[in-house]
Amino acid sequence: MSAAPHPEPAAVPGLPARLADVAGTQPAIVARAPGRANLIGEHTDYNDGYVLPAALDLATWIAGAPADDVLVLRSLEEPGEVQVDLRTGEGPQEGWGLYATAVVRALREAGVALRGLQGWVTTDVPVGAGLSSSAAFEVALATALAQDVPAPLALARIAQRAESVHVGVRCGIMDQLASTAGVAGHAVWIDCRDLSRATVPVADDLRLLVVDSGVARGLANSAYNERRAECERAAAALGVPALRDATLEDVEAAGEELDPVARARARHVVTEHARVAQTVQALGAGDRAALRRLFAASHASLREDYEVSSAELDLLVQQALATDGVVASRLTGAGFGGCTITLVEAARAEEAGAAIAAAYERDSGRRARWWVTRPGAGAARLRG
Ligand code: GLA
Repeated sequence: MSAAPHPEPAAVPGLPARLADVAGTQPAIVARAPGRANLIGEHTDYNDGYVLPAALDLATWIAGAPADDVLVLRSLEEPGEVQVDLRTGEGPQEGWGLYATAVVRALREAGVALRGLQGWVTTDVPVGAGLSSSAAFEVALATALAQDVPAPLALARIAQRAESVHVGVRCGIMDQLASTAGVAGHAVWIDCRDLSRATVPVADDLRLLVVDSGVARGLANSAYNERRAECERAAAALGVPALRDATLEDVEAAGEELDPVARARARHVVTEHARVAQTVQALGAGDRAALRRLFAASHASLREDYEVSSAELDLLVQQALATDGVVASRLTGAGFGGCTITLVEAARAEEAGAAIAAAYERDSGRRARWWVTRPGAGAARLRG
């Protein structure tokens, strides 16, 4: 009797071929974490408000082999080899290696037991385009290094701490929590005060069309931290713990204690917070006219009151709204460049993406990259 053949270990679903080329088709450790697009609720997370992001099916992948108390990582997109000592948290303090050091330190501070890894990282998430490539990297790496992967909220908090404390961008929790807690076919409604969340189905016949204006935004630049400080100033002037606790009437009735800049920032936050709940309702009711109105109001508020839009983002939104099959469009993420998110009928999504990109190139002279995506699943360890 001949011995039973050794079953081939199953391939890792979705493992990018370019990663299998360098890490092998059967790496011992594989982790994946998605980028995100925010449907609505912009700059509300650090004001304790609501947000409605969706994880994308664009993701960062890490694959490799176990190693002793060290992370050794190379990237398919960036030069250099990054080494971080897992026992001390010593590692690079600049470039993409800084993010790896930051994740190791945040994991150690949270008391998470680590295991070493020697491997590769690659990403489909465009870097610096406002789709949370940094959160995807942080979450993927934390997922790969933890002996036991923490639950989505705990994991998101660790990744957020990596970015805010160790990289120095005082971001909210949205990007990291969207990456850890995403559910295919759904947006995630998060209350950033108590961190409760609910999944909100996105209709099967809708797609998320993400269009990159081609103007890179640096989140680490001071403008983001400056907006945050302005919001804190406004909350203090209004006598509330966070802007989530103020109403539009409070903002409008306030006297000179609220300077014009702080007043405009507060007006954006309180109206945007309200728009999130209205968008959840409109998605549930299939009310596409309301979605169009809400996205338009969000974009206008980000442009006028929060001052984080750009001529390119305004142009993309305007062109999207003039395109067949488009339901709603607005800038997504922090702003200052980056991407727009457009809800579009599935049957016309590809055509709409091509038409918007062509119109944008004609009018701005810039090339726009675009992706037709659906809300995807959150981070996972697929091997190891
Ligand atoms: C960035 C931050 C998030 C959030 C958005 C704006 O993506 O990382 O926490 O503040 O900007 O909504």
